[in-house]
Amino acid sequence: MPESLTFPAGFLWGAATSAYQIEGAVREDGRTPSIWDTFSHTPGRTVGGDTGDVAVEHYHRYRDDVALMADLGLNAYRFSVSWSRVQPTGRGPAVQRGLDFYRRLVDELLARGIEPTLTLYHWDLPQELEDAGGWPARETAYRFAEYAGLVAEALGDRVHSWITLNEPWCSAFLGYGSGVHAPGRTDPAAALRAAHHLNLAHGLGTQALRAALPARARVAVSLNSAVVRPLSSSPRDMDARRRIDNLANGIFHGPMLDGAYPADLLTDTAAVTDWSFVHDGDLAAVHQPLDALGLNYYTPTLVSAAPRGTEAARADGHGASEHSPWPGSEDVAFHQTPGERTEMGWTIDPTGLHELIMRYSRQAPGLALYITENGAACDDKPDAEGRVHDPQRIAYLQGHLAAVRRALAEGADVRGYYLWSLLDNFEWAYGYSKRFGAVYVDYETQARIPKSSAHWYAAVARAGELVVD
Ligand code: FCB
Repeated sequence: MPESLTFPAGFLWGAATSAYQIEGAVREDGRTPSIWDTFSHTPGRTVGGDTGDVAVEHYHRYRDDVALMADLGLNAYRFSVSWSRVQPTGRGPAVQRGLDFYRRLVDELLARGIEPTLTLYHWDLPQELEDAGGWPARETAYRFAEYAGLVAEALGDRVHSWITLNEPWCSAFLGYGSGVHAPGRTDPAAALRAAHHLNLAHGLGTQALRAALPARARVAVSLNSAVVRPLSSSPRDMDARRRIDNLANGIFHGPMLDGAYPADLLTDTAAVTDWSFVHDGDLAAVHQPLDALGLNYYTPTLVSAAPRGTEAARADGHGASEHSPWPGSEDVAFHQTPGERTEMGWTIDPTGLHELIMRYSRQAPGLALYITENGAACDDKPDAEGRVHDPQRIAYLQGHLAAVRRALAEGADVRGYYLWSLLDNFEWAYGYSKRFGAVYVDYETQARIPKSSAHWYAAVARAGELVVD
């Protein structure tokens, strides 16, 4: 018997994107290169040598893309601002032309009744700041706070919902640890320094936002908190789970939500760093009151104890590297969770999303939760009539939305869901080879074709109701 699951009135039904993945126009209106421009133009870094130079031309097609969102019944949209479009050298005054693009985008959204959520940093550090040391350099956190203030002053009158960082784990550990993301460095101690300076940037950035925004503004962070499961309940596997949970989660939510790093994280990584980059007062600066927490979820992480040096390098699911993104965890092995997988090779397991929501409901009581990313890459192709059928994505979304609904029924305060992604786009190291969009993009013509999942999601969003078999 099909069951009908209703969502609360006012629930946000959104889609998410990020600047470098969709905008293109990388040399227009004063924009300078970010670390992703440099990285993607470095031979061997992305599949097929793909870059975001053109992407899906959202910078020029944003009006049509917003119209598409309205057609799909979305009432929320999460996008990111390109730092190097707004503050090209990462310091000094803002460039008006860069800000104007986001002003026009936001006005278009508001005119169609779509609530904008603005992410300040989705991995695209201005190259000049990387040249000055990047995230392992403390100064970058202060630069971020200045940039946050500039954007807030320019857009705070029309944007209510703000996110400081997207998935700082990826910035720190894929960018500076395994090197599969920009800037492609492979130094475990630098990765931990980067993590701390991202935390500091979040705290100082939140203070800068509060100083510039009206009191009603909502400030949050989006974490890709991992659902880490042990292969067995043996003490060694449980210890592997504990270590990875700290490196994936506690390293960010500890200082952000509780004002402290987990004590065992510091001892587990003592051979890599002495953590002397944490200065007096830093933890208080990071620990800012937040209005909401954004959770990004795709798949769970399965770990066990392993002999030193065997498996850890393949742990992140974002690309292969000989270098581990998990500093000091060479004795942890990573396993494929059994079950059906998406095109990313990520196992489909909605129970992980439920578990994640319930964990943060307990850990951060009183904090509104938003699922700021969730979705699937599928092998989508138009059929003879030019339509794109993606039943696997519909099943993925259905399962995960049902998990959200179950958490709501158990008392979790989830206020919205943002499907990743609105459009097929530049999937980082995988270039254009992975399609996450609810809307198909023909990269030759830039034509947009809503997939069957987009129509399905639109119906769910309009009704505020999910029908499950
Ligand atoms: C997340 C990123 C997003 C996209 C999805 C698939 O880690 O935030 O940009 O790449 O994964």
